[in-house]
Amino acid sequence: MPTPQPNPFRPSFGVSPLVLAGRGDLLSGFPLALLEGPGSPLRTMLVSGPRGSGKTVLLNELEEAARTQGWIVLRAYPGADMLTDLTATEIPRALAALDEDRPARRITGASIAGLGSVRTETTEPEHRPAATLISVLRTLAERLRTHGTGIVISVDEVQSADPEHLRAVATAVQDLVRDSHDVAFLAAGLPAGITALLQHPGTTFLRRAELVTLGPVTAEESAAAVAETVAAGGREITSEAVELIAARAHGYPYLIQLLGSLAWAQASLEESAEITAGTVEAILPHAVSRMGRQVHAPSLHGMPDSQLAFLVAMARVADADGRAATGDIAAELGVAPNGISTRRRALIDADLVTPADYGFLRFTLPYLREHLLDTHA
Ligand SMILES: Nc1ncnc2c1ncn2[C@@H]1O[C@H](COP(=O)(O)OP(=O)(O)O)[C@@H](O)[C@H]1O
Ligand SMILES: [Mg+2]
Repeated sequence: MPTPQPNPFRPSFGVSPLVLAGRGDLLSGFPLALLEGPGSPLRTMLVSGPRGSGKTVLLNELEEAARTQGWIVLRAYPGADMLTDLTATEIPRALAALDEDRPARRITGASIAGLGSVRTETTEPEHRPAATLISVLRTLAERLRTHGTGIVISVDEVQSADPEHLRAVATAVQDLVRDSHDVAFLAAGLPAGITALLQHPGTTFLRRAELVTLGPVTAEESAAAVAETVAAGGREITSEAVELIAARAHGYPYLIQLLGSLAWAQASLEESAEITAGTVEAILPHAVSRMGRQVHAPSLHGMPDSQLAFLVAMARVADADGRAATGDIAAELGVAPNGISTRRRALIDADLVTPADYGFLRFTLPYLREHLLDTHA
C-alpha cells in the first residue's frame, strides 16, 4: 500500500467542503446582485435550515464572492457585544485598512520642497466622536462608493442573537439602502430563529428579503460531489459506492461529508485503493451513530419531556423512511388523537418533524428515528 492519502472529506461544522454539492443557483446569483445595484432583492438574504444543512458554508462562500468583487465583509457575532464590536472594532478596522491603501496624510508647514523640516500630521478619522452604528457604517459606505464597492454584513446563528441587536443592524442597513448605498445583509440560522427575526416588529424591512430554505440537495448533486472529492483525494470509487453514499446521505450535506470520510478511512484500513459498496456498507452504522451524537442529541437537548415522548412514540410507529401516521402516534402515547396537536405544532416549528401527506408526519432529518430508538430502547 502506498502512503495513505489525506482524507479529502470535511465532516465538521463550519468547514467548507472540497467540492460543494448543489447550491449553484445561489452562488451564481449573488455576484450578479452585488453588481446590479441597491435594488437587487438578493442583497438581503435570510438562510434557514437545520444543523448540518450547510448554512455556514453558504455564508462563507457568499462572503468570499463579495470579497472577490472588492466588497468589505463585516461579520456580526451574536452576543452581548454584537453592536459595540461592529461600531468600535470591526468598522474602524475596515476604515483603517482603507486608509492604509491610501494614507490619510497631508503635508503641513514647509511648502517648498527641499527646504528641510517638512512636518506631517496624520488626520484623526472624523468618525471618532459619538460614533453610532449608522454613522460609522455610513462613513464606510461613502468611502467605498469611491471604489465602486460596498459592504456585506453577515450574521450566522441568528437564533442566538439579541433581537434588539438584529433590529439595530437591520435598521442601519435599511437606512443605507434608502440612500442608495451598496450594502448587502446576509443572515443564517435555524428555521425558528429566522421566523422569529421576521416576526420581530422593527425588522419589517427584512420581510422583503430573499428567504432561502436550505433543503436537501439532489441525489445527482450528492453523487457528483462524492465522486469529485474522492478523485481529488487520489482514490478510486465504484459507481455503486457513489450511488450508495448519495442514497444514504438523503441529500443532507453533513452526511455527504461524514459518509465519504468514513468510507475513505475504511478503505485506508483495508489498505484498498478503491472504495466499493462493501466499504460503504461497513461504515453505515458508524455514520448513523455519529450523526446521532453530532446532530440529533444537541437538537433534543433541553426539550420538554412531553415532546420527547412524542418523538419516541413516533420513532416506534414510523416506517423505515421515518414516516408515521399521527393517529398511530397518539395511540402509541395512549392519548386521544386531538391530545397531541400542541406537541405536533411545537415539533413542526422546531423543524424536527415535517407534515407529510394528510395525517402523516416524517422526521425532518435522516436517522433521527434510529437515534431515538437507540437511546430510548
Ligand atoms: N453544499 C455542500 N456540499 C457538500 N458538503 C457540504 C455542503 N454544505 C455544507 N457541507 C458540509 O456539511 C457540513 C455542515 O455544514 P455547515 O455549513 O457547518 O452546516 P450548518 O451551518 O447548516 O450547521 C460540513 O461538514 C460541510 O463541509
Ligand atoms: Mg453553522
